[in-house]
Amino acid sequence: PQDLYGKERKNSPGIDLVNPREIENLLEEIRSFTFWAAHPVIGGKRQEGPRYQIHNPARREETIGEVQEASPALAQEALVCATQAFESWNFTSAQHRAQCLRKTADLMIDHYHELIALCIREGGKTLTDAISEVREAIDFCRYYAERGEIDFGTPLSLLGATGETNEFLLQGRGVFICISPWNFPLAIFVGQIAAALMAGNCVIAKPARQTPLIAFRACQLFYEAGIPQTALQYLPGSGSQLSAALLKDERVAGVAFTGSIETAHIINRMLASRDGAIGSFIAETGGQNAMIVDSSALPEQVVTDVLSSAFQSAGQRCSALRLLLVQEEIASRVIDLLKGAMAELKIGDPFFLSTDVGPVIDEAAQKSLDTYRETMKSEGQLIYECPLDVNTQKGTFVPPSVFEISSFKSLTHEVFGPVLHVMRFKSSELEQVINQINHLKFGLTFGLHTRLDGRMEDIARHIGAGNVYINRNIIGAVVGTQPFGGQGLSGTGPKAGGPYYLHRFATEKTISINT
Ligand code: SER
Repeated sequence: PQDLYGKERKNSPGIDLVNPREIENLLEEIRSFTFWAAHPVIGGKRQEGPRYQIHNPARREETIGEVQEASPALAQEALVCATQAFESWNFTSAQHRAQCLRKTADLMIDHYHELIALCIREGGKTLTDAISEVREAIDFCRYYAERGEIDFGTPLSLLGATGETNEFLLQGRGVFICISPWNFPLAIFVGQIAAALMAGNCVIAKPARQTPLIAFRACQLFYEAGIPQTALQYLPGSGSQLSAALLKDERVAGVAFTGSIETAHIINRMLASRDGAIGSFIAETGGQNAMIVDSSALPEQVVTDVLSSAFQSAGQRCSALRLLLVQEEIASRVIDLLKGAMAELKIGDPFFLSTDVGPVIDEAAQKSLDTYRETMKSEGQLIYECPLDVNTQKGTFVPPSVFEISSFKSLTHEVFGPVLHVMRFKSSELEQVINQINHLKFGLTFGLHTRLDGRMEDIARHIGAGNVYINRNIIGAVVGTQPFGGQGLSGTGPKAGGPYYLHRFATEKTISINT
């Protein structure tokens, strides 16, 4: 397939899970990785700090590693180091920077099994989710390398008066703080950093508190691939403390953040409260993602797509389905099929290929999801809850659950886990339903199941969502194919894995020469 500029482009192939012997070998090797340690790195130098342990979400008693945290004083050192390195990194050629990213992608392939092991043991991912995650990280590096070579490689010549040349070019902005979430501890962590570096910026990378180990390994691979150690600082630690130490400093040129809208507001306010240069803010936040199913839809296909959209990755994706709206003529059939399909879901150890749903990330997430589910149950809205077997007691598992609601008022906040709300609507209410979805003010993913061609185009245009999926599931955006990101409360854009993502990390310059 060709991309926007007519170039051949292929994403990475992943791992073949068809051959049983290969799967056994893979699992054996993955199990052989047992313990990791991470510490802050500034200018290539190892730093010390208070330690805490990381536990496997599927078996909380299993300690899989230890991390040392950076203090606010170290954050200041990291900023000084990155600021000093900026000029030299910004003036390397785009080809060289792209080469470093391609090499990082190759190294991730060399370390595929270890990275999968970390996604499973640290992030609680299922095997198939873990493979997709490593693929996505590889694809981000290669895609941004390719886009960056085009956009940062050769300045554009613009039309001008005779005797004058006009050139337009993109350069780095300065130091970017990349703050990434635990739900894509490798792909989003690597994607933000790769984009910032490709655009010529230096980076201070702050991984999520729950998943610093895989992030540390990724940084080591960036260094091994040729990214200067002064251009990338690794700073695990408390988000509030490190943000307070960094974001009000005008040497910070921008922030790339993926996480909750509440934290995005805090970061935005910090950036806005400082004097001096105005910082750039790229935020990808959550969603109240809906899917509309009209009476022309195929119920069996709907249920397959609902299952993966709502419950894959234990619902811990910002793209995940939170509200299923089914036209009343087929609602009972869809709900019955959904209950039957949920009864078949296997919830448990993510190491088994047969596992469909793994644990949620930690006790705090489990507790808040359980509290929410109990409230919904006591209000009498439970349709189905998957049974959990005894093995799940060792980890932070939450049973996939479906609740029927009768009003949008029940959707008070984003419930980040395997919880789905279902609502019936009448044919005459379709327009009102679309308005209500838009009124939620989030705008990340949206799904539609219909066989009416006119309706597809009409709704796709009117819905306020960054990613619209028709007659399929609504998760798993593919780099370069489904650029990913939302609008409104879901983020600022631009879209990750899309042709314009790098631009927001760059400053634009016009050079006019009177010859
Ligand atoms: N990009 C992911 C997806 O599409 C979510 O972050 O599911």
